Amino acid sequence: MKRIEIRDLYKAYQQYDGKEITVCGWARTIRDSKNIGFLSLNDGAFKCLQVVLEREKLENYDDIVKQTVGASFCVTGKVVVTPEAQQPFEINASEVEVLGTSDVDYPLQKKRHTIEFLRTIPTIRPRGNLFNAVFRIRSVAAFAIHKFFNERNFVYLHTPIITANDCEGAGQMFSVTTLDLDNLPLKDGKVDYSQDFFTKKVALTVSGQLHEETITHAFGKTYTFGPTFRAENSNTSRHAAKFWTMEPEICFCDLDDLMDNEEEMVKYVIGHVMTECAAEMEFLNKFVDTGLIERLKNIVDNAFVRLDYTEAIDILQKSGEKFEFPVKWGIDLQSEHERYLTEKVYQKPVFLKNYPKDIKAFYMRQNDDGKTVAAVDLLVPGIGELIGGSQREERYDKLVERMNELGLKVEDYSWYLDTRRYGTNVHSGYGLGFERLIMYLTGVSNIRDVELFPRTVGGIQG
Ligand code: 4AD
Ligand code: MG
Repeated sequence: MKRIEIRDLYKAYQQYDGKEITVCGWARTIRDSKNIGFLSLNDGAFKCLQVVLEREKLENYDDIVKQTVGASFCVTGKVVVTPEAQQPFEINASEVEVLGTSDVDYPLQKKRHTIEFLRTIPTIRPRGNLFNAVFRIRSVAAFAIHKFFNERNFVYLHTPIITANDCEGAGQMFSVTTLDLDNLPLKDGKVDYSQDFFTKKVALTVSGQLHEETITHAFGKTYTFGPTFRAENSNTSRHAAKFWTMEPEICFCDLDDLMDNEEEMVKYVIGHVMTECAAEMEFLNKFVDTGLIERLKNIVDNAFVRLDYTEAIDILQKSGEKFEFPVKWGIDLQSEHERYLTEKVYQKPVFLKNYPKDIKAFYMRQNDDGKTVAAVDLLVPGIGELIGGSQREERYDKLVERMNELGLKVEDYSWYLDTRRYGTNVHSGYGLGFERLIMYLTGVSNIRDVELFPRTVGGIQG
């Protein structure tokens, strides 16, 4: 079948004026006024194509117009450029084949549904405008990330999904086992993992970072981009049990260099999506978040704030704002604090750096003050933490000392510590929560609406 895609038609409809073409797609709406009808056809591109149906030209006119939303068609007809009309061109059909009818219970019959209802039909919702826009933007943003790092000589790594190490040390891992859970082998009253598939306790990874760091020392600059898993019992709009993380790691790179890379990357991805998905962005700006395009443009045009944790605490304490969680030096900031900084004080993305070491992971570089580590989180308005990263502790002795303090079994990490034994160097990396980036780019406020089949605490669908 020689069909033209609607997206390509929109790009070059002038050159098809008066020519006969074939398009395929699904009905978004069908209207019949006896001798003339209109079919709005969508083939997956964001914009629909208007097909004009004339009774006298189409033997099966009645069969076509009795079809319902969601039915699929193959249409052949002439392109007619219509400069006066709402849409710049339409197709005057000479032949229409009904490929597949749509049962009357097709859930998108009605024009507008609540986002909560659409969440209950994950297999169907991308056929409507909102989710079609969101998931195309997700795809385009992923491509932009690859393009950004590829243009800068980074090597794309696939780190293991199954691991024996808890990178972040938060104990939020999903176990992976083939043991019979109803009949567990025990030894000294504990589960005997030596009888398990890998002969030890293993889990789904929370981050590719530790494995990645070892390989970065072969290439100098790498990134990973894949699914990560956290059994975090946070039933919020920003937490999922499975989410995608993009984690660059860079040798010979300190915290300032790292922030430069983060800022450049975020701006690059926003710029790419705004250009490639202009129609989708316009739709989101109209129906989801009226300040979206202006906000994103501002982000691309302005420098991000770089602020020390200690200074931030000072600002929060002096703010006079009544926070639910009281602010004092040493606390892990809550989203109300993060939002106050990014939305009220600065109204732009804020790099918050040099956090207390006790609230951060073991691998972060210890600062000379003995209290803080060279960590940096990127906080953005509306979302809170978008990126978490740090300069890594490159000094073998300091790292081992910290691992001992935190009760980590140093011998389990000898493969990781090798990086500090063979050519150690100042190096840094970060992890971008990909779903949070998509929320930021689309204005969609719940993580369940930027994942095709969200996995969140308490339930799974599909
Ligand atoms: O800040 P995190 O925990 O950092 C790490 O895992 C580091 N190992 C990354 C690195 O330096 N290579 O997680 C990184 C990002 C967060 O900033 C957040 O955007 C996202 O992952 N994230 C989540 N997204 C959705 N649901 C969750 N439960 C998330 N937990 C973290
Ligand atoms: Mg973090």
